[in-house]
Amino acid sequence: MKVVVGTNEEISKQIAEEFIKQVQKKPNSVLGLATGTSPLQVYANLVEANKSGRVSFKDVVTFNLDEYIGLEGTHNQSYRYFMNENLFNHIDIDKSKTHVLKGVGDYLDYANKYDDLIASFGGIDLQILGIGSDGHIAFNEPGTSFDSLTHVADLAESTIVDNSRLFNDISEVPTKAVTMGLKSIMNAKKIVLIATGKNKAKAIKELLTGDKSEENPASVLIDHPDVTIYVDKDAYSLVK
Ligand code: F6R
Repeated sequence: MKVVVGTNEEISKQIAEEFIKQVQKKPNSVLGLATGTSPLQVYANLVEANKSGRVSFKDVVTFNLDEYIGLEGTHNQSYRYFMNENLFNHIDIDKSKTHVLKGVGDYLDYANKYDDLIASFGGIDLQILGIGSDGHIAFNEPGTSFDSLTHVADLAESTIVDNSRLFNDISEVPTKAVTMGLKSIMNAKKIVLIATGKNKAKAIKELLTGDKSEENPASVLIDHPDVTIYVDKDAYSLVK
């Protein structure tokens, strides 16, 4: 795994450039996207690059990592809403080519078809990930099988607490989600992970210095041939 250390501004710019290069090289690229605070500046950079005419997303296909069970796509904490608000509404993407797991209705059916759907587009060319303070990637919490495909997951208590900052009350945070599995993520051709802030320091230390173990979901990445971990000083602070 390659490691890049910089400010959030610097690493977000570098990751955005990876996405821009990818789409310039292959206009119908399949991009794997994440929600949460970590990729926000990356998405802001992509919006700017699109507005200035440097890159077009009109032929791009996207797949998001996860969605809360119980939230409609119109709910302001759903991940579909997040993607529309922070990226899709501001770029020239064809929304029918954007895929976000469903949180209501036939969500199970859709989840069961998700990996095949990704494969039918040729697989994910470039995947962005955040990381949870407990080492989760997507909503794969400690104990998730490295062989997992898209599935229903229970959120760990620490994830519910972390994510409650975005809800009015912790009781409103969904306790279940649909998520791409660890094997689904490993199928991506290239992966970038972004982590900033002190509360990610332990997870980054375990990822970069620990062993591969299902108790540390992010450690599945150790065996991937093309992963870059982008961190700020705080997230990197326990490594050296
Ligand atoms: C979101 C996702 C999660 C987040 C992680 C970090 O799609 O897959 O694994 O990346 O919970 O969240 P933030 O970036 O809000 O700290």
